[in-house]
Amino acid sequence: MASMRLKFVAPALAFVVILSLTSPPASHSQKRQNIEARINALLARMTLAEKLGQLQQLDGEANGNYRPEHLQMVRQGRLGSTLNVRGAQRTNQLQRIALNESRLKIPLIFGFDVIHGYRTIFPIPIGEAATWDPLAVGLSASIAAAEARAAGVHWTFAPMLDIARDPRWGRIAEGSGEDPYLGSVMARARVRGFQGADYSANNRVVACAKHWVAYGAAEAGRDYNTTDVSERSLREVYFPPFQAAVDAGVGTFMSAFNDLDGVPASANHFTLTDVLRNEWKFDGFVVSDYTSVEELIKHGVAADGPEAAAEALNAGVDMEMVSRLYNKHAGELIKERKLSLQTIDEAVRRILRVKFRLGIFDNPYADEALERRTIFNGANITAARKIAARSIVLLKNDHDVLPLDKNVRSIALIGPLADSRHDSLGSWTGDGKEADVVTLLEGLKLKVPQTKINYASGCDISGEKSDGFAEALRAASESDVVVLAVGESADMSGEAASRSSLDLPGRQLDLIKAVQATGKPTVVVLMNGRPLTINWIAANTPAILETWFAGSQAGNAIADVLFGDVNPGGKLPLTFPRSVGQIPLYYNHKNTGRPPEANNKYTSKYLDEAWTPLFPFGYGLSYTQFKITNLQLSTQRVQALRGNDRIMVSVDVENAGKRTGDEVVQLYIRDVAASVTRPVKELKGFQRVTLQPGEKKRLEFALTAKQLGFWNREMRFTVEPGEFKVMVGANSEELLEAKLEIEKP
Ligand code: NOJ
Repeated sequence: MASMRLKFVAPALAFVVILSLTSPPASHSQKRQNIEARINALLARMTLAEKLGQLQQLDGEANGNYRPEHLQMVRQGRLGSTLNVRGAQRTNQLQRIALNESRLKIPLIFGFDVIHGYRTIFPIPIGEAATWDPLAVGLSASIAAAEARAAGVHWTFAPMLDIARDPRWGRIAEGSGEDPYLGSVMARARVRGFQGADYSANNRVVACAKHWVAYGAAEAGRDYNTTDVSERSLREVYFPPFQAAVDAGVGTFMSAFNDLDGVPASANHFTLTDVLRNEWKFDGFVVSDYTSVEELIKHGVAADGPEAAAEALNAGVDMEMVSRLYNKHAGELIKERKLSLQTIDEAVRRILRVKFRLGIFDNPYADEALERRTIFNGANITAARKIAARSIVLLKNDHDVLPLDKNVRSIALIGPLADSRHDSLGSWTGDGKEADVVTLLEGLKLKVPQTKINYASGCDISGEKSDGFAEALRAASESDVVVLAVGESADMSGEAASRSSLDLPGRQLDLIKAVQATGKPTVVVLMNGRPLTINWIAANTPAILETWFAGSQAGNAIADVLFGDVNPGGKLPLTFPRSVGQIPLYYNHKNTGRPPEANNKYTSKYLDEAWTPLFPFGYGLSYTQFKITNLQLSTQRVQALRGNDRIMVSVDVENAGKRTGDEVVQLYIRDVAASVTRPVKELKGFQRVTLQPGEKKRLEFALTAKQLGFWNREMRFTVEPGEFKVMVGANSEELLEAKLEIEKP
């Protein structure tokens, strides 16, 4: 009997043990409560100096090491974070000091600019946006996160969410382009890719939505320049990707360099506190951009260091990157009652919250073996190649010059970007190595080993020299086709890289003209971080591929597209202007009271330039042809649109050509008459689909109040009754159109 009971009890016990081992993790709200309790306990023990230490971030060495000065500060609890320190071994060394030698053993948070890859480098963000594929973009971010976290990095200063309508601004390369909807989709994808569902995992990092806000509206496209944006444009154009990031759970924000309507973004209570914390309920922390707290003095809103520190802290900037004014002056500011201890406590609380959420109190060290397994592994390289190929946009392909025949006997590969490892990586290279890069020259050799490749750089990217032209022309005359790799150097876009001309720099256009004159079929492969004014090329060369800066696998990915192993399906995430004089030129502009008419002088246009773009937003061709037909709405009239009400929009998309290919079907709306003027078109949905030859699919999009609404005259978000146009097509100009009526109450 006893043994029977035992038999009965034992499995029950085992069951309990198993249950306790597998019981669901603490609920979300329990976890939050635990974290808040741990923060309170810690805060209660902290001195003011230790609190200020948590608010300080300093820069390490360019090679990823920390500076000797950091050691002492970490020991004393006067440094909470570094940027640029990376690598499992180096981060562990410094972390050990924080945990073994500082009084409170608060781990450091290691930040780094992991923008489009850590070691495996993906296309620059504008290129990734050209995929119109949030899954691909999310995958790129998740690989970057896994590599970075394995290398001891907890925190990436990405995604960059600045909407930009001025391609002179070099940082247009780092964002998702001109459109708030596309920008929001990409924001969500990147935040989820970096952070996953829980950024304490050993393959995730916490993301940073930057640069808050309107940095991309820099006057004249000159980096760091003033911005002056109405609240309506902030809410409709510049805020949405940031709000999408908050909705996706982003852990941190970075306050921008620019001043905004007279108040610098790093001292802006309206954006940092009223909107971000109070309206959007963001509970992570805000880091300043590099010395942007100190720059409040040059902006002219602070007379000296103490004033700058008080302005930034009181507005809601929690952590100070590189300048040290919080540490120097917070004590005296508190005494003078210009700053409250609660403000400091709240900033510390937000930073500790993210540190707890990262799990670094419990798992502070990086795993060096994991680092070796993860960094630049085969799966990551394969993904980089695929994503790079998906980012390529076919701008022109007359007479089906592309794809090239793999049996071609000889190719002249000409141009200063054909074999440049450095430029292929783009402007943010993370820990990427030039030695890892497959250039276009190498990619072609790998793709068609039997073909003779006659390579000549022809000229430099910039400069006036043309002594390489003769060799380039010889290569062209000895070859069956010419591939011209031209564009910008990587450092012509990105931070502090504004240009006043969007032409191809140096003698490159002359080189193209000379080569084109040989009469050989010519394919232009562009590498650049922004739209370029390529009117001559668009008018005179038969084929153009926009490849951005495609990363470690650039050459393989471009070769995949050149030879048709990948059929290009990317679309432009921004407008290509014809000339700098047209800027800002973007598809979602207002109509004006006098929209342009060719035969009416007194309409909105130029005397000396077309008003239309060279290539519109959303544009891109394929080696096959698609037909989009049969646009239908689930209803043409509705009484009102509330909550989750949806109007379904459907179209047929058919591959009418002979190759499998991708089309990005795009949904736009226009509110025809409203209480405030509305854009002529607004993107509200898109789907990238792959279709076999002859295959036809019916696609459905939902329109909700969120998509049809806008900020009315009283600055309330609302859907107003009246007529809407609903448009669907393959780019922002070639669109089918239907009418939707929201009835007046
Ligand atoms: C300045 C840049 O504006 C920002 O994007 C970057 O994250 C920081 N420097 C840190 O490198």
